[in-house]
Amino acid sequence: MKEVYTLADLEDWQQLADDHEPPIRLGVFGSPVAHSRSPEMQNAALAACGLPMQYARFEIAAEELARAFELARAVDFVGVNLTIPHKIVALGLVDAVDDFARSAGAVNTVRFERGAASATNTDGPGFAAAIHDDFGVALRGLRVVVLGAGGAARAIAMQCAHDGCGGLMLANRTAARAQQLAADVQQAYGAVVEVVSLSDHAVRGADLLVNTTSVGLRASDPPLLSRGSIRRDLMVYDTVYGTAATPLLVAARDAGARNANGLSMLLHQGALAFQTWFDCAAPLREMAGALGV
Ligand code: ATR
Repeated sequence: MKEVYTLADLEDWQQLADDHEPPIRLGVFGSPVAHSRSPEMQNAALAACGLPMQYARFEIAAEELARAFELARAVDFVGVNLTIPHKIVALGLVDAVDDFARSAGAVNTVRFERGAASATNTDGPGFAAAIHDDFGVALRGLRVVVLGAGGAARAIAMQCAHDGCGGLMLANRTAARAQQLAADVQQAYGAVVEVVSLSDHAVRGADLLVNTTSVGLRASDPPLLSRGSIRRDLMVYDTVYGTAATPLLVAARDAGARNANGLSMLLHQGALAFQTWFDCAAPLREMAGALGV
């Protein structure tokens, strides 16, 4: 199996199919996608459940997504996950979207069945499960600050409102995007959402700080907040995952604050995606083992 496939490979899938045993019938579409750890986790789950198929990475540019869906469906894929930059645009390319994904305005999981594509968003519930795993708390009653306003932030903010968080503040480099998200959350759940500047003031009075921006993906990225802004009693969650701790997590550690990276959210959104594709519980232990968590 290749590390990363392309749209050209999908166009020529029958030629490639003989090289894949068991066949590839699931994957993640994104750009960039090479860093995705979903294949390790999903292939462990498929093997544990005795499902004779594999999951692969596909480097798909924004303008290629519609064609990639068409081809995946034609070659009998069970479904796909979507990552940057597809989560929002994909909404318009599927036949059905569930209520949560529609209110989030973003999808990360698509199932192909009987010629139709249906979409859901497991990032939101995956995030709630991750916070419960890592910090032993529910979102209900928590005052949450979300940094970012992209696809991941939309799912997380909606989930916080859905679960009855005690306060929701959004901070984004482009304030207009945060304002739009705040309006959408208010409309969906009637929750009051505050838009704050992306500065140290953002975390004042918060219980949980969540970074959904891509800042921290590279070790050289400057921190979004100064080290001094992280209080000891703040819980800090960074949806970025990788081998090195992000600057935000280093700052949290230095402050003695509880902190966790995005591997737990990756795990839980992946387990819920597996459940969506196969209508059965995911083998969480094997999936966690594959990620080393
Ligand atoms: P995803 O779907 O994974 O959330 P996205 O929609 O591309 O990805 O969103 C990326 C988020 O990271 C956005 O909130 C973006 O801020 P803008 O809305 O201002 O673009 C944020 N982001 C990316 N690079 C950033 C940087 N250098 N500083 C601050 N925020 C940044």
